[in-house]
Amino acid sequence: MAPDILDSIRSTIRDVPDFPTPGILFKDITPVLANPTLLAQAIDGMIEATGLTEVDKVVGIDARGFIFGALIAERLGAGFIPVRKKGKLPWKTRGVDYTLEYGTNSVEMHLDAIAPGETVLLADDLLATGGTAGAALDLIQQAGGQVVGSTFFIELSFLGGRQRVSTSGPVHALITY
Ligand code: PRP
Ligand code: MG
Repeated sequence: MAPDILDSIRSTIRDVPDFPTPGILFKDITPVLANPTLLAQAIDGMIEATGLTEVDKVVGIDARGFIFGALIAERLGAGFIPVRKKGKLPWKTRGVDYTLEYGTNSVEMHLDAIAPGETVLLADDLLATGGTAGAALDLIQQAGGQVVGSTFFIELSFLGGRQRVSTSGPVHALITY
């Protein structure tokens, strides 16, 4: 992706101090999403980084991963699969617990979402500690899906999430801090 486009995207991400808690500098992506040119370029960039031209399914993680995952799926001609927080999916699910800094969380996926052998790309807005993406990758692999990569809009590299998810396939990020 052209450096000037990346610079435009980077400079449009808004820093919000002390959100959601004091001491956290939140990277607000909504100004990028609101700009039609930058949104299209961000999606292109997240796909281009993977080198993929086709995949069976794109998995997006509740909630912000739905935005990127669905757009990427549509662009690649793939199906979109939601991984949701516990209790949100209506049918039979498989769940995985993962650890947060304090406590645990759970994500779930429908049992019939991915057929064994299907190629799967994971998409989310942010790779931080990698706990969320790691849990989603576990769900894909438990279903027999073949993970062909993970693509993130932002990676906070100082949190080391890449190590946690790279065991499941190549990891790509458009913007790295
Ligand atoms: C955020 C973000 C990623 C995850 C990254 O989701 O959207 O999914 O945290 O953190 P990790 O790498 O440390 O797991 P969150 O569940 O906070 O909010 P959302 O529902 O707005 O996506
Ligand atoms: Mg999220």
